[in-house]
Amino acid sequence: MRKGDIPMKHLNLTGRSFLTLKDFTAEEIAYLLDLAAYLKDKKKKGIRGKSLAGKNIALMFEKTSTRTRCSFTVAAIDEGAHPEYLGKDEIQFGKKENVKDTARVLGRMFDGIEFRGFSHETVEMLAKYSGVPVWNGLTDDFHPTQILADFLTMREVFGDITGKKFAFVGDGRNNMSNSLMIGCTKMGLHCVIIAPKALWPKEDLVELCQSYAKVSGGSLTITEDTAAVAGADVIYTDVWCSMGEEDKAAERVALLSPYQVNQKLMDASGKKSTIFMHCLPAVRGNEVTDDVIEGPQSVVFDEAENRMHTIKAVMVATLGNLDEV
Ligand code: CP
Ligand code: NVA
Repeated sequence: MRKGDIPMKHLNLTGRSFLTLKDFTAEEIAYLLDLAAYLKDKKKKGIRGKSLAGKNIALMFEKTSTRTRCSFTVAAIDEGAHPEYLGKDEIQFGKKENVKDTARVLGRMFDGIEFRGFSHETVEMLAKYSGVPVWNGLTDDFHPTQILADFLTMREVFGDITGKKFAFVGDGRNNMSNSLMIGCTKMGLHCVIIAPKALWPKEDLVELCQSYAKVSGGSLTITEDTAAVAGADVIYTDVWCSMGEEDKAAERVALLSPYQVNQKLMDASGKKSTIFMHCLPAVRGNEVTDDVIEGPQSVVFDEAENRMHTIKAVMVATLGNLDEV
């Protein structure tokens, strides 16, 4: 690869934290997607980079993870960094030590911090007090790195994603729904959240996303009616009970069973080209049937792979040396 191949190098995200897509412009999101595609291509050609050489990266996990943990680990090593896994039972944080102190200690030793956990305030505090870039690997409210992977996957299928119709079906107020609404409306997509009223997103976030849509030319609709998948280019779902909500299982099954993504719902888009997406892990038989997730419309494993390439782009853009990519 030649240095000149790196996309939109003029956009400088150095030192920025990545907590929610609210903090990033459409141009910056597009830049991260371009950079991820570039890094993916480079990896497929067997070229390793040194853009994170000498950097030490803390991976803090209060909740479990397969994709996010492995993506940060592999991406860091691919670009020459050292990742260190700090699980909730292995460090003082959450027991003896508060967020502010943990942030200042980690910031003295590490060059970047990934955090996955419950309260969104924790990741904000880490960013505020650590003095190094902090990347949100999922909180109760947002999952922004997942959206980059989803958009990269959609770009690979459709090319330009502007103006596409995106239907999210299920728990309309969880971290995925929140983050997809922000991402879609910033990037000019027509986003429909299809959920029972009891699980609709918060009104202030809906208003904010509607203001993004006005600028981008996209739109946001919230409805209870599954017929709203008509014309969708993407049908997306997520688990009915997010991590930490396990006690809600019975209640959610009762509320969300009519919102299961099965072949009948996929067909209701009226398009053979509609793709099925899911951030994974999936509960087959709940939010999606086995035939849909295993079927020809499903791109879920491309999404999973793209977690790594997009997370690498976030770390490289905010912490890396772009001359060494
Ligand atoms: N999609 C996602 O974040 O997966 P993990 O929970 O395995 O990290
Ligand atoms: N909404 C899910 C996403 C998992 C990647 C959860 O928070 O458990």
